[in-house]
This record gives sequence, structure tokens and C-alpha cells, in this order.
Amino acid sequence: MKTIATDIYYIGVDDHDIRLFENQYPVPCGMAYNSYLITDEKTALLDTCDIRKADAWKAGLQETLQGHQPDYLVMHHMEPDHSALALWALQQYPSLTIVASQKALQMLPQFFEGISLEGRTLAVKEGDTLPLGKHTLRFMMAPMVHWPEVMVSFEETEHILFSADAFGSFGTLDQQEDDWACEARRYYFNICGKYGMPVQTLLKKAATLPIRTICSLHGPQLEGVAMQEALRLYDIWSRYEAEKEGVFVGYASIHGGTAAVAHEVAQMLEARGQKVCLMDLTTEEVSFAVEDAFAYGKAVFAASSYDAGIFPPMHNLLHHLQIKAWQKKRVAVIENGSWAPSAGKVMREMLSQMKDVEIVEPLVTIRSRMKQTDKPQLEALVDALLA
Ligand SMILES: Cc1cc2nc3c(=O)[nH]c(=O)nc-3n(C[C@H](O)[C@H](O)[C@H](O)COP(=O)(O)O)c2cc1C
Ligand SMILES: [Fe+2]
Ligand SMILES: [Fe+2]
Repeated sequence: MKTIATDIYYIGVDDHDIRLFENQYPVPCGMAYNSYLITDEKTALLDTCDIRKADAWKAGLQETLQGHQPDYLVMHHMEPDHSALALWALQQYPSLTIVASQKALQMLPQFFEGISLEGRTLAVKEGDTLPLGKHTLRFMMAPMVHWPEVMVSFEETEHILFSADAFGSFGTLDQQEDDWACEARRYYFNICGKYGMPVQTLLKKAATLPIRTICSLHGPQLEGVAMQEALRLYDIWSRYEAEKEGVFVGYASIHGGTAAVAHEVAQMLEARGQKVCLMDLTTEEVSFAVEDAFAYGKAVFAASSYDAGIFPPMHNLLHHLQIKAWQKKRVAVIENGSWAPSAGKVMREMLSQMKDVEIVEPLVTIRSRMKQTDKPQLEALVDALLA
């Protein structure tokens, strides 16, 4: 039983067996589904768990309840990694009331066929409070801080912000890296990257509160210096500003020719004092490339031509960047082809649809293998990128 503050307990579960979170993101250090219990005059359960860990979560809840009945289930977010046990909770605890946003309550029956919510729900809106005794939860709506029904709550006695998916990270709680930002950044850009404006709105609300602890639905509880750093990074990330000085260089090469060009360009950048994040898109899983492409303000994309188009690993990255609203960048493009180079056109078309992405000249075309004669053009491209 892990105590967060007086009468506030952590009852979340670490998932060490999961390979892909949301069936998409590799989680080499697993995933945590966080959930909390406040035992006051009224007992409030905050969110549930992913169905994958239902048994462990129920056991932890029952142990922490010590025979009490929860009065409320506060649902900050309807996504199944947090809501899967809602129906079970309603059936298990006949006097339980679900507390959620109006939108969340509309969504709830979509997930549970035949669920009977008659007299079992309390819809809350911006600024509403839920008194529990010594503790009171105040609700703030956070639409599109992942889904439209999301809300966060502020516990007014202990000054805890229950932040839903915001400030989450990949990794179980028993395997967190010292560097919170690493997996929190990959989580943020891949999951919330598109929603910079809603995150800014939430940060402005948070700035008015005397927060001591942030409790996200994933990842560690944040306090003190770590919390201040998380707030600082979230502000940068959600404004799409460059967090890191340097250049992201992503390449997709079939036979190694484009890879050699990318390495050459990386050396040219380093010779100009730049920090370079060089990434082979054929071996790195795309969510890691998305993370780094967002973190830097400048990027080089180098790809082989392929069937009058582009080698798919590069297409895949650019498609992900497009749907995640990648923006405010300066980019250079290098293509490679043996008979009718086509990758550059595809890259430029995709990049030109993105907001505030400046494509610098020249587009460098390599024919099969880089020659000495290609180097002046590459130098010119690197200079233009850094200009
Ligand atoms: C399936 C396949 C399709 C290709 N399609 C094109 C193409 O449409 N136009 C072109 O110029 N080269 C095409 N190529 C050739 C490569 O783009 C070219 O050899 C390039 O130099 C490969 O660079 P790399 O060594 O980095 O893989 C294709 C190669 C393969 C394997
Ligand atoms: Fe979510
Ligand atoms: Fe989540």
C-alpha cells in the first residue's frame, strides 16, 4: 500500500508484460496504469485500470479499502486503459456513483453494452467541487488533452493535481529512468503532439493553482524540482518550440548509399559545432524518431527513391509527423535515385503541407552513390540549414 498523502493511496498497477502500448508504441520498460483511492468521510476511487491488469488492480483496491465501500468513482478519462473496470465497480459496489464530465458520461455506455447508469452518475463541469470530508476535489475540464471528455482534478488540502494522461510517461513505476523527460517526451509527442493548444490551456489553469504534486495516469508522481522541470518542458513542447539545440538527421536507405550521405551530412554539421541526432529509420521504431524530430528545431531528411515514390520508412515518419502537427521547423531534404529520383518530390510535398516548416534549398539529388562532386552541394545545404 503506497501512501501519496494523508488518506490518499496509490492503487495503480505496473504492467511488465505489455509489448506495445495502445497496440502501437514499444514499451521496453513496460507501462503503469495509475489509480488512486482517497479514504475520507466519503471514499473516492480515482480511475480504474487497463483490463490486462484487472485482477491485480482489484486486489490492490480491496486491500486498500479494508472493507469500506467506495462512494465515488471519479473518471478523468474514458480511454479503456483507465476505464476498463468501471462496469465491474458499479456492480461490485451498489452505492457507487460515477463522477465524470458530461461528455464522458455520454461515452461510457459505448464501452459497456447494457450498462445501467440510472441514478448512478454525477456530471461535473468546470470549477465544480466534490467534498469528501477533509479533502475536496475541484474539477477542471481538459478537452483534447488526449480525448474530448478529459478532465483533471485538484485536491485542495494536499494540493495534488490529478492530471489524467498529461505528464504521463511510458515505463512501469518500478523501472523509471532517472531522466523522466526521455520516455515522457516520447509519450507526449506521440500521444498528445497534435494537441498543443489544449495542453497550453491546461497549463494556464494549472499555473493558477498551488500544486505540490502531479499525479498522472501513467508514470511517476512528480514533485519539487522534477515537477517544475516537467511543467517547463510541457510549456516548450506544447508551444512546438525547439527543446534542444542541434539537428535531427533521419535517413531511410535500401542499399546504404543514402546512409553514407546522411553520415557525411552529420559530420559536416558537427564540424560546424552542431549537436546531431542521427537516426536510421529502417531500424529505429518510428515513435522514437517522432520524439527526436519534435525535440530539435532543425531536421535533415534523406531517403532513397522507391517505385516512383519514396522508401516507406521515410514516408512512415513524415506521415506520423504530419498527423501529429509537427511544425515550426527548418528542414533540408536529400534524395537518392538510380534512374528517376522521386523521393525529394514526395518529401517536399508532405513537408509543405505542415505549418511553419521552412524547406531550405537546394534539394540535393544523389545518383546511387555519393561522389566527391556531390560534396559542395551538401556543404551548401548544411550552410543554408544553419543560416
Ligand atoms: C523496389 C525499388 C524501387 C526503386 N524505385 C526507384 C525509382 O522509382 N526511381 C529511382 O530513381 N530509383 C529507384 N530505386 C533505386 C534506388 O532508389 C537507388 O538505387 C538508390 O540509389 C538507393 O539508395 P540506397 O543505397 O540508399 O538504398 C528503387 C529501388 C528499389 C529496390
Ligand atoms: Fe488517453
Ligand atoms: Fe492513458
